[in-house]
Amino acid sequence: MNGAAPLFRMEGISKRYGGVRALEKADLTVTAGSIHAILGENGAGKSTLIKVMAGVVAPDEGTMTLDGREVTFASPAAANQAGIVCIFQELSLIPELSVADNIVISDPPKRFGMIDRKAQRRLAEQALARAGAA
Ligand SMILES: Nc1ncnc2c1ncn2[C@@H]1O[C@H](COP(=O)(O)OP(=O)(O)OP(=O)(O)O)[C@@H](O)[C@H]1O
Ligand SMILES: [Mg+2]
Repeated sequence: MNGAAPLFRMEGISKRYGGVRALEKADLTVTAGSIHAILGENGAGKSTLIKVMAGVVAPDEGTMTLDGREVTFASPAAANQAGIVCIFQELSLIPELSVADNIVISDPPKRFGMIDRKAQRRLAEQALARAGAA
């Protein structure tokens, strides 16, 4: 770390599933512009930690701060809106759908209740350009 303020921080995050302790007071600090890896044995709680930050699972205790402000995510869409997006490995792509469909699949732009294809294409092109793939 280079002394930069943390961009995202999880502190004291715990989650139980019945009698199973999936996470016990887990902390994670993410600084801007760096890549972080979460390592641990099977069942260590990696997926649970990611699900908490992605709004998939609500923690039993603990706090999350993004850009210095405390946040809670009631849904994956809420996490997405805050800029936290989960890309699940391999099987997350649906081969029958287009590249643009797959990119915006968690939160497609809508117009009159239908997917806005033009906006979807624009978002996908922007995302690909950011990734240097356009
Ligand atoms: N929905 C659930 N219901 C009950 N127990 C769960 C649930 N999800 C996770 N667990 C349990 O919580 C613990 C942590 O699981 P988690 O999937 O977060 O671990 P992981 O580090 O991602 O493991 P792996 O390396 O196998 O992917 C495990 O004991 C797991 O069995
Ligand atoms: Mg896992």
